[in-house]
Amino acid sequence: MRRFIVAGNWKMNKTVEDAKTLAREVVDQVAGVENVDVVLCPTYTSLSAVNEVVKGTSVGLGGQNMHWEAEGAYTGEISPAMLLTTGCQYVILGHSERRTYFGETDATVNQRFRAAVAAGLTPIVCVGETLEERQSEVTEQVVRRQVSGAFESVESGDAGVSIVAYEPVWAIGTGLTATPEQAEEVHAIIRDELSKLYGEGLAGKIRIQYGGSVKPGNAADLFSQPNIDGGLIGGAALDAESFAGIVKAAG
Ligand code: PGA
Repeated sequence: MRRFIVAGNWKMNKTVEDAKTLAREVVDQVAGVENVDVVLCPTYTSLSAVNEVVKGTSVGLGGQNMHWEAEGAYTGEISPAMLLTTGCQYVILGHSERRTYFGETDATVNQRFRAAVAAGLTPIVCVGETLEERQSEVTEQVVRRQVSGAFESVESGDAGVSIVAYEPVWAIGTGLTATPEQAEEVHAIIRDELSKLYGEGLAGKIRIQYGGSVKPGNAADLFSQPNIDGGLIGGAALDAESFAGIVKAAG
């Protein structure tokens, strides 16, 4: 049985004070929900402050990106150790906004992935097709390429504890959600690709989240699909009640 995991990707939102308030509200509202890992991913500037709120609770902490080098002349970047020392256990990698606006490629996602697992962080690696790719019926090829690219040279022990997030780009922040059937179809493809890389047993342990306009009203149907193990939540994670509603749909 895979344990559900619901993560809030706050993107470039919330000042430190607002982030602390939201984190406190989330901690209160998800208290008592069992069988779900809950993770908050604020901006870098709020990580330490949010860690003060969530440490000692059941809520985990994650970064939204990370460089693969330990230190050096990489203006604007942040290292695995820096995330760890703010209290992070997780890091989102290869989000489509990083791929689209900041030039991330399968190769750089793989470098970040290997650095994250080497440091002991759990990567949440994002994959997903654009609308154009879906319309050209290349979703399967795109997603298989992104998965095999991200996991290249990653050993099975590290792969087994990593998380994949399927986020169709056309569903992110648009209000358009993949239907549970559309999402399940791609989740099954992702698991099949992981089986090819690591065998069925290990692939069966890797959690695959769905992301893209998840809301309290559509979460339960998505989470009832056999290969959907939780969600990566953007817009709805900025409101504690909505986010907690989604967590409860998984619990
Ligand atoms: P959304 O974003 O929930 O606002 O669609 C999801 C994400 O980008 O992780």
